[in-house]
Amino acid sequence: MRVLGIETSCDETGVAVYDSEQGLLLGHALHSQIDIHAQYGGVVPELASRDHVRKLIPLIKNLLHENLIKQSEIKGVAYTAGPGLIGALLVGAAVGRSLAWTWQVPAIGVHHMEGHLLAAMLEKPAPRFPFLALLVSGGHTQLVEVMARGKYTVLGESVDDAAGEAFDKTAKLLGLGYPGGPAIARLAERGNPDVFHFPRPMTQRPGLDFSFSGLKTSVLTTWRAQVQNEQTRADIARAFEIAVIETLAIKCRRAIQQTGLKRLVVAGGVGANQRLRTRLREVADKMGAVVYYPRPIFCTDNGAMIAYAGSLQLMAGQSEPLGFSAYPRWSMNELK
Ligand code: KG4
Ligand code: ZN
Repeated sequence: MRVLGIETSCDETGVAVYDSEQGLLLGHALHSQIDIHAQYGGVVPELASRDHVRKLIPLIKNLLHENLIKQSEIKGVAYTAGPGLIGALLVGAAVGRSLAWTWQVPAIGVHHMEGHLLAAMLEKPAPRFPFLALLVSGGHTQLVEVMARGKYTVLGESVDDAAGEAFDKTAKLLGLGYPGGPAIARLAERGNPDVFHFPRPMTQRPGLDFSFSGLKTSVLTTWRAQVQNEQTRADIARAFEIAVIETLAIKCRRAIQQTGLKRLVVAGGVGANQRLRTRLREVADKMGAVVYYPRPIFCTDNGAMIAYAGSLQLMAGQSEPLGFSAYPRWSMNELK
């Protein structure tokens, strides 16, 4: 079954076609809105929705054209139904649902974080179930026990800011651009790791929850107390990045111990961070575990993960009636 996937939950318009018979991604395309939002230092929801409206249909047309896929070959449409920005979600849902109606094929609304969670399945080797997933995106930080598709238990999550959000907010207060994660990672390369030390929040107490909001306050206090020059900025960026990475590493180690699962899947935008990837690989190696990553472009938002997750649901006979909903907030615990 060939499934068109549509992702419009935030600031990227992503589309892809996945062929479940061949187990193959036939093509994917992404339009990033970074240039639009950069001047405001963060995502402006209304501008995001408007840009999705402009870009989505041409992007789908191009995707099919460039990959020589005929409309008639598409047997299902999957779109991100939430969580995300409501206006942005509604663009993808309306276009996806309308195309499915026109083409007389089923449509399915996909949970954005489930998409992230399954993105590593597009790689070779793909992780086998069961596995532990670390989801680190702009809106979520979660450790999830994944027994099978649709069988998810959230073991721990952030009680305040998500890891990506911490990167974005910290970047902002250091005067770096948006999105903050890549900006901090680039600057941190020039930073000395031994000059500053930031706390690893919530690692002293038991449990798998995270808290990242205090970290930005530590950064702010430190930054204000220093002579503000480029080297200090880089040193702080490095220490901040290390603090986030070490916190995630400590919790992953704990989760592996607690569950006995030997496969760790990392997903979400922060999963594109090279130093995080290296560190978690070290941690897993030491514990006789294996860590799986989607390629960096499938860590951040993309249509491929939605096409893939949607294809599994459609193949399982799930689909949605003509009406559709989008959910700005949506817990994975509610998935059936
Ligand atoms: O998964 P994603 O693309 O969108 C959401 O679902 O939120 O994640 C975006 C987040 C942003 O906070 C961004 O700053 C962060 O991922 N990010 C990174 C890197 N690339 C993106 N954080 C750290 N290092 C990176 N290389
Ligand atoms: Zn995402």
